[in-house]
Amino acid sequence: MKNIVLIGFRGTGKSTLSQELALRLARMRISTDDLATELCGMSITDFVQEHGWAAFRRIETECIVGLQGKEDYIIDSGGGVVENPDNMRLLAKNGVIVWVHASLEDVVTRLIGNTNDAQRPLLSEGDLRSDITENYTRREPLYKRYADFSVNTSTHTIQECSTAIEQWLVASQKKSDQ
Ligand code: S3P
Repeated sequence: MKNIVLIGFRGTGKSTLSQELALRLARMRISTDDLATELCGMSITDFVQEHGWAAFRRIETECIVGLQGKEDYIIDSGGGVVENPDNMRLLAKNGVIVWVHASLEDVVTRLIGNTNDAQRPLLSEGDLRSDITENYTRREPLYKRYADFSVNTSTHTIQECSTAIEQWLVASQKKSDQ
């Protein structure tokens, strides 16, 4: 079975949805952020502060290369995975790509309201709100381009999104069996 790879901006609910899917489908879950944290030997925030984003992106790609050959997993990817086309080529080799989408207003509210995220390194110059707006707007077409399927956590609950993904998987399986 192919992996199910969740992509999407920070704060869209990828981690919660990946946990729900792993439970429902009885599959293992891997988070590229967890793998990267291990490889960095420190939190992503500390690593980026010390070494910068380019170094983090190299680590992230190394983690994705390390996932080659894995099957049947739910892969919860970091929001910036779409920044490097090589990442997406590797992930799509043995995975279906699901874009977890949420409205910009919801992402801003969720990230600004979450005290853990105060520690998250900003992606660019400026305050948190403009950082989110700028990167969200720039990345939307990328997520859209790579997605085989998408769910919206602004208009649907995690349970509903999970059900939609399950139904889509069954329908795609039927199609490929025909
Ligand atoms: C990033 C998102 C984070 C993490 C890192 C970079 C990004 O993952 O990989 O801070 O570039 O948007 P989440 O999307 O899981 O928060």
